[in-house]
Amino acid sequence: MSATRERDSVAHRSGEQMTGHVPTPPTLADRIVETLFDGREPSGSDRILFPGVGTGPFVTAVRRYCESRDRSFPDAVGLDTDPELLAAARDAHAEYVDLRERDFLGDCSDLGTFDYVVGNPPYVPIERLSEGEKTRYRRRFETASGRFDLFVLFFEQALDRLNDGPDSGDVFVCPYDEDGRLPPEPELGVFGDWASLRRDRLEDRSCVEKNDRPWYGWHENPPMEDVLRPKILCQDITDDPTFWLDADGDVLPRHSVYYIVPEDPDDLDALHDHLNSPEAHAWFEANCQRAANGYLRLQSRVVKKLPVPDDVVGEPVDDPHQTTLGERTHM
Ligand SMILES: C[S@@+](CC[C@H](N)C(=O)[O-])C[C@H]1O[C@@H](n2cnc3c(N)ncnc32)[C@H](O)[C@@H]1O
Repeated sequence: MSATRERDSVAHRSGEQMTGHVPTPPTLADRIVETLFDGREPSGSDRILFPGVGTGPFVTAVRRYCESRDRSFPDAVGLDTDPELLAAARDAHAEYVDLRERDFLGDCSDLGTFDYVVGNPPYVPIERLSEGEKTRYRRRFETASGRFDLFVLFFEQALDRLNDGPDSGDVFVCPYDEDGRLPPEPELGVFGDWASLRRDRLEDRSCVEKNDRPWYGWHENPPMEDVLRPKILCQDITDDPTFWLDADGDVLPRHSVYYIVPEDPDDLDALHDHLNSPEAHAWFEANCQRAANGYLRLQSRVVKKLPVPDDVVGEPVDDPHQTTLGERTHM
């Protein structure tokens, strides 16, 4: 696809919403679908969701996959907000997929959960969203903080629709290796293909040109004044919620690490002990959402509700009362 055509299709608008339609080439869709089913072949009783289905290149790829291996096509739902793209998808795939004109970033709980979610999410940066959309997304999605992009919200929503969490078959395009390093371009695999498809949009993110060289803005603006303070750290997904103390406040947490900063710095040790207590552990077990293999998702909106009895961070009191972690900390 030429750069100009790609930009035109990215800029496509349907009503108020920017849809970020960029068709996925068939070969890339095939590779992604092979990755999706690698080690977990589909059956007719599985459920698959195609969010932002467009004209249906992933439906075609799943059909090709199932036909070539004599597998039954799973029970499928496809969503898109663009009626014209949906009409084309219906022409080609109506007998395979329940195709609905529907906002995937709205409440989709009535759709139930799925064994697989596959798609090429719209890539629409925050500057192109209306104020109404930004407010709505910030209320609904944990990942809608700082500078965010629609594709991240698609991933969060996809995780919520998967029936056993992140390992159950969603395809994530991730540029980093296990050590957190960026591999050389030829080794980027599916992510490299995806990034090439969006090269223009990615390069467009440059915020300033200096001495003929582009300097790129941070995708997010972490609140450094909060981050570099004494704090408590924990993993976002874990089989055993554990909290670590950063007493000197010099750890810069990576994306998969959450940090909790007490309102009152004197509460740091007591809150840290409370978070690692058997009572708190039992509360996380009872209240946190489960990911794959029984792992717990320590979502901040849930962790904030952890009860903190008054005597945890002060003198024992006669009339016990409790606040929540969210009232005593920033996270
Ligand atoms: C990058 S395109 C991918 C289209 C198609 N799946 C493909 O791979 O060619 C993203 C698609 O998401 C759709 N879309 C954008 N925002 C959406 C939303 N909130 N809910 C559902 N679909 C949306 C767009 O209309 C577009 O078809």
